[in-house]
Amino acid sequence: MYAGRYGRLFPGLPPLATEAEFLRMLGRRGGACDGGLAADAGESDDAREAAGWPFFGQFIAHDITADRSPLTHHADAELIRNYRTPRVNLECVYGGGPVGSPYLLDRDDTAKLLLGVNDAGRSDDVPRNQQGIALIGDPRNDVHLFMAQLHVAMLKLHNLLVDRLREDGVAEPDLFKEARRAATWHYQWIVLHDFLPRLVGTPLTDELLVHEPRYFGGENDDGEPFIPFEFADAAYRYGHSQIRHRYLVAGEQVPIFPDLVGFQPVSASRVVDWASLFDVPGRPPAQRAKKIDGRLPRSLIELPVAITGDVDDDLHSLAVRDLERGSGVGLPSGEAVARELGVAPLSPAELALPDVWLGETPLWYYLLKESQSRAGGDELGPAGGLSARSWLASSSATPSPSSASMPTGGRRCPVRTKTASRSPIS
Ligand code: HEM
Repeated sequence: MYAGRYGRLFPGLPPLATEAEFLRMLGRRGGACDGGLAADAGESDDAREAAGWPFFGQFIAHDITADRSPLTHHADAELIRNYRTPRVNLECVYGGGPVGSPYLLDRDDTAKLLLGVNDAGRSDDVPRNQQGIALIGDPRNDVHLFMAQLHVAMLKLHNLLVDRLREDGVAEPDLFKEARRAATWHYQWIVLHDFLPRLVGTPLTDELLVHEPRYFGGENDDGEPFIPFEFADAAYRYGHSQIRHRYLVAGEQVPIFPDLVGFQPVSASRVVDWASLFDVPGRPPAQRAKKIDGRLPRSLIELPVAITGDVDDDLHSLAVRDLERGSGVGLPSGEAVARELGVAPLSPAELALPDVWLGETPLWYYLLKESQSRAGGDELGPAGGLSARSWLASSSATPSPSSASMPTGGRRCPVRTKTASRSPIS
């Protein structure tokens, strides 16, 4: 199993010294990060983007970073390992591949990935063992209904590509590998050309793609690509503030937790209609994501035991966890990062921290407030753009699968052959 080191974007900046009780006060129920039940569908914190994009962002997070170190054990950050390769490569879908994870494959057609069958006899769930535990490349992709269903969509994408490649005459022994490559390239294309502009805006995406994709390097002293702690434990956790408390599912507004918690079979009545999460031509606009504003919905302030395990009350709050994780790995303050990047730091009024706190601001919280003040809560702010930079630095250190032509042929691919003649990330 891969276990690489994390790295740092700003090794020269000192860690922010914070008091544990301050972090808990900020993140627990009733604190500055508690959005309560306000983040309901239909209220004014509707963001520009559709509600499905944060879940796509969460899927990417699970593809590139997995820190399994215990939250309360503030280990030497050098010893913390990332159990995902820092590559946008669908590892969370393919796991160890046919040799390392043979249970992911369909024995009746070994080029295909196995799907689970729901209570209506349809292949609309992830495969599960007899106790309902998902048999997938990353257990976190079963954390809630939308992630589990997005994982199903990825399994179906692979299988659809197998069908098309087979029709196109690709040899049976090559089918799995070629479908995997095609699925990965489509996914990478969406990440770079659809997801990223929504997150950091088109100008910054273009600037990063064209001029300076390796602004921060992206390799550690051993020449290995890495995910920076500033990214995994602050910037890329922006998505926690985009989650709503309630979502429209099968015509009903339902709190994401506890109602839509995962780790159990998905019944046919809960199969997701993607047009309710992404804008689909010819269908009414989808529900929106929540604006990024430093607040998390009550569902995430009171995560269910199924997700946190049996821990003290404060650690049910994802905000407390985000803040403690950042402190544990010694992240610099948001103000220090802004100064380093030449961006005007936020004012105390913009930060809206409790009066008792006179120090600088934890990076995760700072970047959320920066998005609220400087980008209307719809995308990351200027210092948050470091997320994109670090993202591209790490992903562009990924070797391309190959420079060979896209195997599915232009007429069938959603991405035209010309564009897809090599991995979009190279
Ligand atoms: C309902 C939605 C979500 C839930 C329940 C959830 C839950 C969690 C939990 C429990 C952790 C581990 C916290 C810790 O102990 O450090 C975590 C980590 C993380 N989350 Fe989320 N999350 C959600 C959505 C998102 C979204 C939308 C994004 C980004 C777009 C995101 C990005 C991350 C990242 C980058 C990490 C760190 C992962 C690692 O390095 O291992 N999450 N999340």
